[in-house]
Parts: sequence; structure tokens; C-alpha cells
Amino acid sequence: MPSAAAAVPRVDLADLGLDEGGHLLVDRALAGVGPGGRVTVTGRHPALRLHLGAWCRERGHRLADGDAADLNAADLGAVIIEKGRGAERRWAGAERAGSAAGPPDARADPRWGLAARGALVEAGGPPIGAHWSEREHVWADIAPRLYAAAAAAQWDPATAVDWAAPIDAVPPEIERAVVQIMTYLVENEQAALIIPARLLSALHPHYREVMQLLATQAADEARHVEVFTRRGLLSGGPLGTSSAGGRASLATLLTEPDFTTASFLLSVLGEGTFVDLLRFLHTHAPDPVTADVTRLALRDEARHVAFGVAHTAHLAGSDPGYLGTLRRSVERRHAALQDTAGLNAEVFDALVLIAAGSWQPAAIRRGWQAVRDLQARMDEGRRRRLAAIGFPDHEAAELSALHTRNFM
Ligand SMILES: [Fe+2]
Ligand SMILES: [Fe+2]
Repeated sequence: MPSAAAAVPRVDLADLGLDEGGHLLVDRALAGVGPGGRVTVTGRHPALRLHLGAWCRERGHRLADGDAADLNAADLGAVIIEKGRGAERRWAGAERAGSAAGPPDARADPRWGLAARGALVEAGGPPIGAHWSEREHVWADIAPRLYAAAAAAQWDPATAVDWAAPIDAVPPEIERAVVQIMTYLVENEQAALIIPARLLSALHPHYREVMQLLATQAADEARHVEVFTRRGLLSGGPLGTSSAGGRASLATLLTEPDFTTASFLLSVLGEGTFVDLLRFLHTHAPDPVTADVTRLALRDEARHVAFGVAHTAHLAGSDPGYLGTLRRSVERRHAALQDTAGLNAEVFDALVLIAAGSWQPAAIRRGWQAVRDLQARMDEGRRRRLAAIGFPDHEAAELSALHTRNFM
């Protein structure tokens, strides 16, 4: 007939000390018994008893030595530990931060803080001060796929562009136009970098795919700033002009406090318009470096636009009244910019000249027409995206017409 002592789990540490990882074996044995349950620990380390005593006090367990009933003859010198209730109490108020496998929760609890989605969260940690903690306000079902695509599509500015390609054949005045465009692009890219970084810093990390996507978006813009600056300086500088009106237009984007409205104004309307601009510059690029940098940026921008449209459509789909909020944001921005020039006139002229390719009157006419066609394509693209979000066609046309003359 088995004795009561035979039921007590045993763990032998051999000569392993508690100060070199032995506690892992003791913990593992204790995990198999409930509070008040006992575990027999044996070992040859000279300080085993001393260390176990201190470790048990720290963990809320108790040394149950001296209870001879629990010891076999072979266990003389063994240590008996009685499991405390500390661990049970520690996790009493714990809850899962949503589910790791499933979609993110509709509402992320600030008390989850920085815990991984799906982690068991011990109560009592510092809450996270995130502004955006509701799924509808930040989410799009396409976000995980867009993040994966963005991570796979990161390119190295040092090698993705053939910086040694000749630009000597570009006539000096066309080169100045290119430099002016690059100067303008850099200031727009800087705004486009700051906005996702700002949204990211106020986002609850429970929506980690959106957080990751915004991080890749900011990294994309950092590369755009780099390659446009580098192309702008390739012929020896200096850079072109920065207009007060252009910067005023960008400033209205930087101060937009709402996540979706900022994403809408920047990505749907601004970057959507920039996709056409970058395609135009790629088509009319007078040299291979300009063609490369605009092609690479265009590829990234398409993802930024895709998220902006998908997220805005997602929210408008669940709250049709939100279209009114978006409409007012466009009208507000238009009113704020009414007294500014909008697009830097030197940028407009530079676009005409790049498309013309020379100062011949017939070429200038073609360049002028190409820029008018570009503006029409931009308008058409904005109307298409506004319709995809849920605006009726006539409203999409009205709102597109109110978009900033600065393009972004
Ligand atoms: Fe960009
Ligand atoms: Fe962008």
C-alpha cells in the first residue's frame, strides 16, 4: 500500500544551485500542485537549504521541513516546500489583452498598456495614454496585408537608384526646374512623414498591424525625403524656393487632430493627388535618376493611399454620418487656405517646363497642356476615391474641386 509521502512530487537538482537556475526546476515541480500542496527538493549543492529558504520567502511559499511524515528514509537532507497562495493571488485580476489569433477587439483597454495582443495581463501596471483605442477609428481589414507588402517592398536608397547615371545632358534650365520640383517634393514628404508618426504615437498598440503599417509609411517618407534631396543636389545645388502658401497648406494637415480625418486629408486626397504627380514626373523625367526616384516613391505612395481609402471607407461604412465630418474637414481646410496662393507658382512653371523639354513656343504649349491634363487626372482620381469612400458623385466632384492647389 503506497504511503502518503509517495504522492509528494520530488525534484532532484543534483549539484545545481538555486543561484544558477535551479529555481526553474523547483518552480516546474510546484506548478503541478495546488496552493498548500508540497514538493520534495533534493540536491547536493552546499547552500541548497539556505537558498531555498530565502527563495520561498520571496515567492510566498513555505519550508515544511521537520514534518517527518512527508519524508522517506532516502530523503533525509531533503527540503519540503509547501506552495503558497501568492501566485494564485497575483493572477486573480488578470485578463487577456484580446485574442492573439483573432481580429483585434472593438475597444482596447488602456490598462492593457504595452502588453502583446493576447497576453495574460497582470493587473496594476501603468495604463497607456493612447488617444486612439477604438477599432473603428483606426482599422481597415487590409492593414495586415498592406503591412506585409510594405515590409517586403522596402528599398535601399543607396542601391535602388543609379546615382552615377549621367545628368549632364539635361539643359541647365530644365535642371533648375527639376531642382525646384525636388525642393517642393521634400517639404511635402516631410509633412507626410510627420503625420503618420504623430498618429502612430497616439495609437493603442493593440492595433499592432496599423501601428506597423504607419511605421513603414514613415520609413517610406524618410526615404523619399532622402532621394528627392539627393536628386535636388545632384547638379551641385543650391535648392529651389519654398513658398509661404505651400507651407501654409501643409500646416493645415499637421494640425488636424482626428485620426481618420488626418488620414483622409493626407492619404486619400493629398497622396492620392501625389500619385498622379509622381507618375507625371516619371513620364517626363529628363534623366534616369529623376525617373528612378519618382518611380520608387510612386510605388510606396500607392500603399499609403490604399490604407487611407480602405480605413476611411471602413469608418464611413459603420457610421454614415462620418461623411459629413470628412466633408466639413475639406471645407474648413479650403476656407483656411482661401487667401493663400496654394501651389508655389515656380513649381507650376517647373512642371510645364519639364513636360515641354525646351523653350520652343510649341513645346511650351505641349507642356502647358500636359500640366492641364495632369490636373484633370488628379481631379478624376480624387473623385473616384471619394466615391469609393461613399460620397455620391456630385458631392465627390464638389469636394475634389475644394482640394488644396498645393496638391498634397
Ligand atoms: Fe512620400
Ligand atoms: Fe506617402
